[in-house]
Amino acid sequence: MMALRLARAATGKDRIIKFEHHFHGWHDYAAGEWTEGGTAALGVPSQTLSNVVIIPQNDLALVERTIEQESGIAAIILEPTGYHWGGGPTAVEFLRGLRELTRRTGVVLIFDEVITGFRASPGGAQARFGITPDLTTMAKIVAGGLPGGAVAGRADLLAMIDSDPLLSRSNKRRVAHPGTFNANPLSAAAAVACLELVGTGDPHRAADAAAVRLVDGMNAAFKATGVAGRAYGLASMVHFLIGQECPPGGFEWPDPYKAPPNTDPGVAIAFKQAALNEGVEFMGEGAMVSSAHTDQDIEDTANAFEKALAALKADGIV
Ligand SMILES: Cc1ncc(COP(=O)(O)O)c(C=O)c1O
Repeated sequence: MMALRLARAATGKDRIIKFEHHFHGWHDYAAGEWTEGGTAALGVPSQTLSNVVIIPQNDLALVERTIEQESGIAAIILEPTGYHWGGGPTAVEFLRGLRELTRRTGVVLIFDEVITGFRASPGGAQARFGITPDLTTMAKIVAGGLPGGAVAGRADLLAMIDSDPLLSRSNKRRVAHPGTFNANPLSAAAAVACLELVGTGDPHRAADAAAVRLVDGMNAAFKATGVAGRAYGLASMVHFLIGQECPPGGFEWPDPYKAPPNTDPGVAIAFKQAALNEGVEFMGEGAMVSSAHTDQDIEDTANAFEKALAALKADGIV
C-alpha cells in the first residue's frame, strides 16, 4: 500500500497496472479482479477498482498499449517471478522490457518481493535477474518471523517519507505513514538479525538444494504412479500440477510463454485431503522449503506425495 501511495504521490497520477492472478495483499488497490462467483473484489469501491487495470503477464506490447491508451498510469506492480510466487512464471525478457518501458514512460515499477525477497536469492528476484525496480515491497522473511514489512527503492521516492521532523514539516510532498506497528523497533531488530543470516547465502544454498530434491522426488512419484503431472520450482519455491500432460524439463518450468496448465479444482481438493491423510499439508499446489528442513523431511514429504497420488488414482479421481 505504501509503495502504491508513493508512486501516486510522485507521479501525480492515480491508476496502476497489475497482472492477472498476481497477489499483492488484500487492501483495496490490490484486491484484484472481479470474477463471476469470486470474492476478491467484494466490498471494494468501484471507483478504486476503476483505477486498477488488470492485464495478463508476459505481454510487453499489451503493457505498452495500456500505458498509451489508459490515461494516468502511476505504477506497474508485479510478483517478479510470476503469479502465485512463480507458479505461472514470468519471462526474464518481459521483466527487462518492463524496466525499459517504465523508465521511458515515467511509470514507477514496483516489484512485490514479499515472498521472492530473500527466497529467489539473498537479493531477491531483482538480484537474481539483474533488474532493479523503482520500488520493492518486502515482508515475511524481512522481519525474521515477526510481523513487519518494508519498502525500499529510489532515494527520491523514499525521501517522501523522510522521518526527519524538520525536513518533514517543510516538505510539501511528504507522504504520511502513521500506524500502530509502523517503525516497530522489535520487528526492525528481528529484521536486522535475520538479514545478516540471509546475507551469508547459507540458508539459500541449503533450502534451494532441498527444493531440488523435493521436486525430483515428486516427479519420481508421478512416474511411479503413472499419474500425469509435473513438479517444478525456482530457488526454494516449489509448484506442482496434477492430472495434466506437461512438457518435460529440469527443475524450472521450461517455457514461461506457455503457462503451466491448472489442476482441476476437484482434483486439487481431493489431493489436499489425500495429502493431509499422509500427514502433509501443501500450500495449494505448492510448497516452500526452508533451510531447517532435513533430508528426512524431504523424503517423508515426497513419499506422502506419492501415496496421495496413488490414492487419487485408486479412487478414479485421476
Ligand atoms: C506476493 C505477496 N504480496 C503481498 C502480500 C501481502 O502481504 P501482507 O499480508 O503483509 O500485507 C502477500 C501475502 O501473502 C504476498 O504473498
